[in-house]
Amino acid sequence: MRLERPSLKWKEEHIAYMNEWDESRMTPSSFQLEEGSSYESYLEELAKREEGQGKWLPCTNYFLVDDMDRIVGMIDIRHDLNEYLHQVGGHIGYGVRPSERRKGYATWMLSEALKVTDTLGINPVLITCNHDNMGSAKTIQNNGGQEDESFTEDDGTVVRRFWIHR
Ligand SMILES: CC(C)(COP(=O)(O)OP(=O)(O)OC[C@H]1O[C@@H](n2cnc3c(N)ncnc32)[C@H](O)[C@@H]1OP(=O)(O)O)[C@@H](O)C(=O)NCCC(=O)NCCS
Repeated sequence: MRLERPSLKWKEEHIAYMNEWDESRMTPSSFQLEEGSSYESYLEELAKREEGQGKWLPCTNYFLVDDMDRIVGMIDIRHDLNEYLHQVGGHIGYGVRPSERRKGYATWMLSEALKVTDTLGINPVLITCNHDNMGSAKTIQNNGGQEDESFTEDDGTVVRRFWIHR
């Protein structure tokens, strides 16, 4: 298993992953391919987002790729927190391909992402999940997450917030 940065090389795999995704929007949202737009323009938009243009804070995105060069997960590392990320989004967002869940991939991918946050000097690292997302909460706790106060969004969604101290 390894982390790979998005590039044209991963176009077909990215589309296949997205076709398998089981919700209307991708998690993390940085991997959402918009209908009708080319992969090249997606990569250009992602590059702007990663640089922190517009409403975005700088971030770094990776695919989790297996030994068969199949994308099994995706992870977005935000280099800083704004009010929204402090309350809801956290430093790191991730998702695993539906057919590859419950095999330990999210736990491993997060542990690799924490090596990246180490190099970026981010400490402690904030990671969040909705109150009913047991898989994500366990993934965070498997990586040493210590729970802080929850945040309740306007629509009543309770977001659990965890800090990982490095
Ligand atoms: C949440 C998610 C990333 C977990 O990925 P995963 O690869 O299945 O996670 P892991 O295999 O590393 O599992 C971590 C732990 O959670 C448990 N777990 C995973 N899915 C679970 C579920 N649906 N219900 C209960 N426990 C679950 C695993 O058994 C494991 O527990 P253990 O360490 O005690 O054995 C994946 O379900 C997903 O992509 N969901 C949709 C997107 C999402 O919610 N992203 C997170 C946003 S905060």
